[in-house]
Amino acid sequence: NTLSKAEQHRPQYHFSPRAHWMNDPNGMIYYKGTYHLFFQYYPDGSTWGPMHWGHATSKDMVHWHEQPIALYPDSLGYIFSGSAVLDSKNTSGLGKNGQVPLVAIFTHHNPRMEKEKTGKHEYQSIAYSLDEGKTWTKYAGNPVLPNPGISDFRDPKVRWFEPAKKWIMTLATKDHITFYSSPNLKDWAKESEFGKTIGAHGGVWECPDLFPLQHNGKQVWVLIVNINPGGPNGGSSTQYFVGDFDGKTFTPFSTDTKWMDYGADNYAGVTFANTGSRTILMGWMSNWQYANVVPTSPWRSANTIPRELGLKEVNKELFLTSTPVKELDVLNSTGFTVNKLAVKGQYDLTAKANNESGLFRLELATQKADDFSIVLANAEGNELVIGYDKKANAYYLDRSKSGTIDFEKGFGKRHTAPRLSTTPTISLTVMADVASVELFADNGLTVMTDIFFPEKPMNKLYLKSATGITVSNITYKTLKPALSNE
Ligand code: FRU
Repeated sequence: NTLSKAEQHRPQYHFSPRAHWMNDPNGMIYYKGTYHLFFQYYPDGSTWGPMHWGHATSKDMVHWHEQPIALYPDSLGYIFSGSAVLDSKNTSGLGKNGQVPLVAIFTHHNPRMEKEKTGKHEYQSIAYSLDEGKTWTKYAGNPVLPNPGISDFRDPKVRWFEPAKKWIMTLATKDHITFYSSPNLKDWAKESEFGKTIGAHGGVWECPDLFPLQHNGKQVWVLIVNINPGGPNGGSSTQYFVGDFDGKTFTPFSTDTKWMDYGADNYAGVTFANTGSRTILMGWMSNWQYANVVPTSPWRSANTIPRELGLKEVNKELFLTSTPVKELDVLNSTGFTVNKLAVKGQYDLTAKANNESGLFRLELATQKADDFSIVLANAEGNELVIGYDKKANAYYLDRSKSGTIDFEKGFGKRHTAPRLSTTPTISLTVMADVASVELFADNGLTVMTDIFFPEKPMNKLYLKSATGITVSNITYKTLKPALSNE
């Protein structure tokens, strides 16, 4: 029942299911000391199939315990993505004997109607739990939001909007977002549409999220829109808009397309409900371009680490920042710190790191950097390169020699991301697991997440710079495994 360190490519501190297929995180909510993660799950195979909501719980978002399946497909269809809320005022009336309900709002995807090409095969339904998320009962009056004739009509993300004392649903409706409101989670009224002529449109809009963040004491709203395909480095990706929301309409401050993560492997990310002043996001660490064929068994897919979201102003524009949540510090083990290191050519940190596992966290800062790279490698000749290209003023992840890449022709590539920060100091945080790397540059202003499949753990580490750089600080920590289900 427990996951094994011996399974090749098994993520050691990212959530992955024991077995079978997983995609989007769903219904993430913090309640009574427990973080709940539900997820798109197919328990009968390792490729996408009739969707269920799998379930896992954690006290710290780092150590996860897989639980029995929460929602099974039924006569209305498969259980697609959605969210969960704490209905603390029992607006839905689904609470009983003083027990307030947790309510899940999800898409029913009806495969029969899809075949019949009705264009109305996706609609929204609800389910509730009166035992703190353990078991769920579907509402007898489903669906609560029928399809008006839009073929892609899914992924409801619901939150309470206090000024108007109503629930707001942010829904992906093919090539735009539609906002709905409800007093009770059962009756929904359309409020407005957003996005038909703004943002990236290289693919279908999916898994949106709308949430407030504080900036200089002022409340600002962020609208996340996942899109597949059409990402900046191919396939699935997450764009976002910063603006205002008045309970009815979302008004963006700027029309630029912004990306939350420039790597290939952070998709369908949304935030946890009920985390107070913190806004925490986890994504699915894969990409529809190859998710079904990645070389792992008996499971497929893992999630990103949980990330705390914030805002940062650069040249009068607001950008979303993502940084590893502080809870991840429990993983920190032995390591080293170096102050002032001149690197010209190649500097081998392997002996200092003394880490056979490939799991580490590295913080690095350098002033006025020239081209440089951090190279994860092993004796098989696999290499994963994390770098900065001064001329392009861009970061990159290069997995073209990272191990097994031939399962899909687009996988073995180099991905780039613009450096948005204008400060002279470049600071990087790198989180490496056996099969993934997450780069948080400039305090999370530019982020990249990539998966890879080395033949052996990446137990070698190099710093490289042909022209030479001076690193002002490196802090390296081996990370302990936090195997899911342990
Ligand atoms: C996103 C997505 C959602 C949908 C789910 C189906 O990855 O396509 O739009 O609800 O996956 O599994």
